[in-house]
Amino acid sequence: MSCRIAVFGTGYLGATHAACMAELGHDVLGVDIDEGKLAKLAMGELPFYEPGLPDVLRANIDAGRLRFTTSYQEAAEFADVHFIAVGTPQKQGELAADLRHVEAVVESLAPLLTRPAVIFGKSTVPAGTAARLGARVRTLAPATGQVELAWNPEFLREGFAVKDTLHPDRIVLGVDRDRPGNAEAVARDVYAPLLEEQIPFLVTDLATSELVKTSANAFLATKISFINAIAEVCEATGADVSVLADAIGHDARIGRRFLNAGIGFGGGCLPKDIRAFIAMAGELGAGQAFALLREVDSINMRRRNKMVELAREAVGGSFIGARVGVLGAAFKPDSDDVRDSPALNIAGQIQLQGAAVTVYDPEAMQNARQLFPTLQYAPDMTAACAGADVVMILTEWTQFTAVEPTDLAGAVRRRVVIDGRNCLDPVKWRGAGWSYRGIGRP
Ligand code: UDX
Repeated sequence: MSCRIAVFGTGYLGATHAACMAELGHDVLGVDIDEGKLAKLAMGELPFYEPGLPDVLRANIDAGRLRFTTSYQEAAEFADVHFIAVGTPQKQGELAADLRHVEAVVESLAPLLTRPAVIFGKSTVPAGTAARLGARVRTLAPATGQVELAWNPEFLREGFAVKDTLHPDRIVLGVDRDRPGNAEAVARDVYAPLLEEQIPFLVTDLATSELVKTSANAFLATKISFINAIAEVCEATGADVSVLADAIGHDARIGRRFLNAGIGFGGGCLPKDIRAFIAMAGELGAGQAFALLREVDSINMRRRNKMVELAREAVGGSFIGARVGVLGAAFKPDSDDVRDSPALNIAGQIQLQGAAVTVYDPEAMQNARQLFPTLQYAPDMTAACAGADVVMILTEWTQFTAVEPTDLAGAVRRRVVIDGRNCLDPVKWRGAGWSYRGIGRP
């Protein structure tokens, strides 16, 4: 059954969700306050890099199933199902999440809802938010008692956004247990093709659904920081963290994924979500439990400093007069996102300490330039490494992992490579006359 859906927010999450809901056959209206962004989207252009998404976007615009508007009135009249997909960034100068965009959607939309509707929140929020917003909706909506708010957290990864939305590992739906309504039935209609694929569908109370998302991200962050802590021990003992990760990863209880040691996690989600989790746990009086996440955060941030130290050692103890070639600016490959990117953070620190740093990234150059205009940028890999005293691989794009030592040998001043993602073969690089340093590897 085709549903009439509005998706509020057309950023990473919202644009993907809107396009993918249309791909499932629904009639979808994407809503945003940014007219410029909507104009681009309506022409089938994405303001960010996400493999596969432009095709889904264009196909569904052409099929007439996907439109965009700035009008909440139009959205309220058109749709029976409303998804909130706006951002919840970290508050300036605090650990907590900034909920103002989510609140603004509810405050603007609810007073316009004159007939039965379901609002599904998708944004990552602290536990208790959905219950509070639900009460607000009941106060504001003219269709008294007929507008329901449920929470349907999103787990998509950048770089795999389409696949993660159309074929997720699970669908989680938090409903208000005190006010049984239609949310579950409506979600079953919206996600019918996914449920036919036997994708697990878990219906919970509101707080559990909010916490599922936060806990999933906290666990992933913990897994990465765990292996990075082990990498520190490997460095002290001469052991090899990559081999160690393979070995422990064979244990099905542990699993190999998210055990890649390196310069750590960044991006628009993991760092701010674990901090919001710490803030929320503190407010709820469960703060002690989250000394763990503070440590996860500091292990992660320590990796960046460690990389700067390694580079300083590699150039003989001082960055003054040194040239550093940095390959990678995005927080991970297949993304142009530089939010809290460890790669750019490291490049910036090294430059501030006196080196001339030149950066190349296949997709994130424009965003990197905006965030760090004082770094130098080169049009390709070889140009970034020209005259370098040390080359640093900070994002494991395939084109970097596939590079041959001979490809760069002619460009650099000294054959020194630091592999911040443990993605190169040390034997090959050393064999070609390079000095190689990885993370937690001898
Ligand atoms: C993450 C979650 O995976 C996703 O479920 C959630 O919805 C949003 O946050 P994303 O931010 O796209 O997704 O990136 P992810 O693939 O999780 O990587 C996060 C960071 O961890 C990257 O900087 C990556 O380089 C780093 N990472 C990942 C490691 O350092 N080691 C690993 O083994 C895996």
